[in-house]
Amino acid sequence: MKVIVTGGTGYIGSHTIVDLLEHNFEVICIDNLSRSNKYALEGIEKITNKKPTFYNIDLCDRNATLKVLQEHKDAVGIIHFAALKSVGESVEKPLMYYANNIDSLLNVLIGMKSFSIPNFVFSSSCSVYGNADELPVTENTPIKNAESPYAHTKQIGEDIIRNFATVNPIQQHILLRYFNPVGAHPSALIGEIPIEKPNNLVPYITQTAIGKLDELTVFGNDYNTRDGSCVRDYIHVCDIANAHTLALQFLIDKKNKTNCEVFNLGTGNGVSVLEAIAAFEKVSNKKLNYTIGPRRAGDVVAVYADNTRAQQALNWNCKYNIEDAMLSAWNWENKMQELKL
Ligand code: UFG
Repeated sequence: MKVIVTGGTGYIGSHTIVDLLEHNFEVICIDNLSRSNKYALEGIEKITNKKPTFYNIDLCDRNATLKVLQEHKDAVGIIHFAALKSVGESVEKPLMYYANNIDSLLNVLIGMKSFSIPNFVFSSSCSVYGNADELPVTENTPIKNAESPYAHTKQIGEDIIRNFATVNPIQQHILLRYFNPVGAHPSALIGEIPIEKPNNLVPYITQTAIGKLDELTVFGNDYNTRDGSCVRDYIHVCDIANAHTLALQFLIDKKNKTNCEVFNLGTGNGVSVLEAIAAFEKVSNKKLNYTIGPRRAGDVVAVYADNTRAQQALNWNCKYNIEDAMLSAWNWENKMQELKL
């Protein structure tokens, strides 16, 4: 069975392609390489001995998008990852974020409808919950105001898909809300390739440990948490990837109750920044150079998932814990140095 993956050379996209190929799907990968590296395709091939068909296309180009979707209209589904995802950049350049993330989604949906491609899986984010006031966060936790234009594009994307689903009973949709994806493939052949100084904790940790960055600042140790630092639900990218294969199969098997279902993808465990650092130090056997600094504007105190729905409906379970994630991220950082990425 053929599946179209947009944003397929990106961080989560590339890991998902590996999982799909390992489950015998044929993969059509679309990416404009604006925030990713073509090396991902080599890594995918080294791991799986299979090659996705690749199109270098900007999904904001409607004609180009429709042409590829028409060519592959026999696909069983589309997994739509392609989007800009930096929270800080979205605050600086809101129009760029709205234009890119919404136009590309619309073009993909228009193509999906035009060519009757039956199933759609959307990359959403726990950021749609805004500053949630109940923990753990379930899929029914009320959606609050978005904290950034990036998060707002995910809320709008979900709304567009929901409205589209209402009038298109033939097509089936799943919205996957990711918590904090971290780590890399255990082979260390693919992983996240940050294009500039990272904002996220784990690449910041590994770049500090390898000497690309001088030190890590822990943004606040005076929060009302068990050690004073913020709590997040760090989930291994391979567990997230596998959930996409299961979600697609769930739709193919017609197990969905409505034609737009939502699942949280988190481990269900909250881990503090200081605990994440300790996990890194343990598995890497390296002392991390870090200091405690002031709080970062916009950070929520604590957020972690209730993942019961995804476990039960998709028969999905997390295979990896925070130490596995840190070790794989560290191995990948070393590999990137070797590959000069
Ligand atoms: N942190 C530090 N120092 C750093 C970087 C991060 O202490 O140098 C802390 C942050 O304060 C936060 C935790 O590490 O407490 C995680 O921060 P990240 O930037 O890695 O992740 P966020 O939880 O802020 O962001 C993630 C996703 C976004 C998404 C957001 C929704 O990266 O895409 O969750 O809450 F929008």
